[in-house]
Amino acid sequence: MDKITIGRMENAPKIDKNIYGHFSEHLGHCIYGGIFVGEESAIPNTNGIRKDVVEAMKKLNLPVLRWPGGCFADEYHWRDGIGPDRKRMVNTNWGGVVEDNSFGTHEFMELCRQVGCAPYVNINVGSGTVREMAEWVEYMNSDGDSTTVRERWANGHKEPFNVRYWGIGNENWGGGGNMRPEYYSDVYRQFQTFCRTYGDNVPYRIACGSDGEDLEWTEVLMRTAAKFMDGLSLHYYTVPKDWEDKGSATEFSDDLYLETLRKGRRIGELIEKHGAIMDRFDPERRVGMIVDEWGCWHNVELGTNPGFLFQQNTMRDAMVAALSLNIFNRNADRVRMANIAQTVNVLQAILLTDEARMLLTPTYHVFDLYQGHMDATLLQCMVECKSLENGIEKLSVSASRKDDAVTVTIANFTDETTVRIDGVHAKNVSGRILSGSPQAYNTFEEPNTVCTASFGEVKLFGDHAEAILPAHSIVALSFAI
Ligand code: AHR
Repeated sequence: MDKITIGRMENAPKIDKNIYGHFSEHLGHCIYGGIFVGEESAIPNTNGIRKDVVEAMKKLNLPVLRWPGGCFADEYHWRDGIGPDRKRMVNTNWGGVVEDNSFGTHEFMELCRQVGCAPYVNINVGSGTVREMAEWVEYMNSDGDSTTVRERWANGHKEPFNVRYWGIGNENWGGGGNMRPEYYSDVYRQFQTFCRTYGDNVPYRIACGSDGEDLEWTEVLMRTAAKFMDGLSLHYYTVPKDWEDKGSATEFSDDLYLETLRKGRRIGELIEKHGAIMDRFDPERRVGMIVDEWGCWHNVELGTNPGFLFQQNTMRDAMVAALSLNIFNRNADRVRMANIAQTVNVLQAILLTDEARMLLTPTYHVFDLYQGHMDATLLQCMVECKSLENGIEKLSVSASRKDDAVTVTIANFTDETTVRIDGVHAKNVSGRILSGSPQAYNTFEEPNTVCTASFGEVKLFGDHAEAILPAHSIVALSFAI
């Protein structure tokens, strides 16, 4: 029998709800078609934004949304996307399609208003100027009577938007300018100076971090700019095979399934390595690690634009999500935000759309199952289980407490197993489950092939509980204490 022992932690951190954040770039059909269809569309919408998509995002209590990129952010000029005359451009990063800028600042803020989430705006460092950024912050957040603010009034928004989260550049070691860490660090210091506080809205400034492997980047940024930042980002994608041929999203062997999990688990090693460097310069852990791009990256679906990054989403992706979120929870003393890439129709999406149809992917259901962890206090969690052939543990677990409820989330990667849970003295327990073969996924014809159900295979025995976890399952247990 596998065993999980739960206990209180000294100085236990709160699991920031922003760990359950998302990312929407001007890429493929994420924004256009996936989120924004325009007021004239026959697809039901409010102010041009799809009602079904907003409803689904609201049900997750989605806390924070990053926009407009990604790579796109470093070519985005915000003035092109406000007012009645929008500039047309070609999206050179993603598919070479025309970007008509009909979704801009006001539309993004309207989306966040409808969803009820915090906006996280990524500004253009790669091809933008300090002045351009400073005026965007002023446009969004100032209550003063300046020409820039009057423009916002003229565009229909009297009150400031009060955006708190600002990303200063994206992947500036690569597509965002091919900068060296020393150079970016100086640029960052300059830009952040003019990312001003307006009223009582103090901006939370996030510096561009490493691609995961580059430890020197983190070292230089922390050594030279830590005191000027609130967060430092980290990007990591789980690529089952390699970047040349990432592998199909839906057709893969059981060996590649396990290999994907091994690679997914690497996010934990990277958090540890980059975290150790951050600790040297910031032992109090004031600077948050912001994992603002993560998820599985597969080959695009056959017949789709390679620049649109459209991929299906199976139970394997759900497992990577479950394992990543458990890792983020367990590192909540450093990881303050994470944003899975990307919300709709791109990479490891939580939602897929086809014209008026929408489906919830297995990954969506993981975010749903894990809601109990948002803003809860982390609990210690010791796991004794067997290791799989490729060395990874069979179970991934995290636990937290909020008021009188303890949430335990368990991903069981392979065959059925019984698990004993010690350390929670509960009055009762309930559970929900997501399960299916690693290759299972939802289609528009059969949207509920992989969906959550209530889980009855858990029993309390005085001082412990026992649960029978079916093969390939993700279970969320809620103990009333
Ligand atoms: O999420 C897709 C792309 O991946 C982002 O635009 C970029 O930041 C990363 O390389």
